[in-house]
Amino acid sequence: MAKVHQETAENIKLLANALQKGELVAVPSETVYGLAANAFDETACRKIFKIEGRPFNDPLILHLDSLESLDLVAERNEAVERLAETFWPGPLTLILPKKKSVSDLVTSGLNSVAVRIPGHPVLRKLLRACQCPLAAPSANPFGYISPTTSAHVEKGLGDKISYILEGGPCQIGIESTIVDLRDPASPSILRPGGISSETLSSVMGLSLAPSQPAKETAAPVAPGLLSKHYSPKKQLLLRSTPFDKAELQKLQKDDAALCFKRPNKALPLGGNIFWLSESGSAEKAAQNLFSILRQLDEGPWGSTTAELAPETGIGSALNDRLRRAAAKS
Ligand code: TXA
Ligand code: MG
Repeated sequence: MAKVHQETAENIKLLANALQKGELVAVPSETVYGLAANAFDETACRKIFKIEGRPFNDPLILHLDSLESLDLVAERNEAVERLAETFWPGPLTLILPKKKSVSDLVTSGLNSVAVRIPGHPVLRKLLRACQCPLAAPSANPFGYISPTTSAHVEKGLGDKISYILEGGPCQIGIESTIVDLRDPASPSILRPGGISSETLSSVMGLSLAPSQPAKETAAPVAPGLLSKHYSPKKQLLLRSTPFDKAELQKLQKDDAALCFKRPNKALPLGGNIFWLSESGSAEKAAQNLFSILRQLDEGPWGSTTAELAPETGIGSALNDRLRRAAAKS
């Protein structure tokens, strides 16, 4: 049974030791909680796949404490420095050519590796203490909604792991943006996330190829990016326009509505009207998304209809998660 460990010097030491001995630790990050193993310990990394029910063709992201440790696992190119300077530590994952030190298990046999330097202060302490890169996917049973609190991790994986490090609710609330930087001349976004494509494009001085809706081709660049993901057990429907007052008033008791912002007309709130943000902030909405999707999944409602966010900034990443959560296959 998992024990949640508060961030004390003693516990950081304990968990760093556990990682060095090949055990798994669920860790907080600014995006979502991850299930971490010493990236250089293949047996430990294998446990991640087993515990999450994750297919071996879905590679793991390596979390590093510094740019120096990047050289242990990946080949740098001229674009790395600029992105690292602006966005690391933070919610940006880069795909780079891998070095031999990284096992095929971690990269699912690809010759590239996903890396990021996370910004969460508690995870950074742990990374410094364990002195190895940590391989960590989001800490959820494969395909389910990512965890943004330690309680979410406990609920999904608590009977399969021993250690959870407490880091409070995740500030960003959706996963990192993944940029394929194998060819620095033509970077592309593989997964929208915590850093918007607008911000990335302006820093890189070029327009990044917009992320395509995920397709499973014979040899996908990012094998884990399935169109059906973040899947609640209950039905989720999407709409692109806000609910109006009459629609909310007519809502069946069995159904739930998930608005992008708090409906401003006084409504007889029957407990089945939810909102992602008070005043329409996409950042706040992203922060709340996975918690509210879980709450809806656990509640008595048969199905939920969710409004899509305006398609700019982090709103695009939020919509990406909603679309995958609503996908049937
Ligand atoms: O914010 C995040 O990125 C969180 C936190 C814990 O860091 N992690 C996360 O990991 O979202 P995960 O495993 O749930 O998603 C990682 C994605 C997968 O879709 C995987 O296919 C892709 O990264 N990926 C990993 N290595 C790759 C590679 N070499 N080439 C392309 N895609 C890769
Ligand atoms: Mg995941």
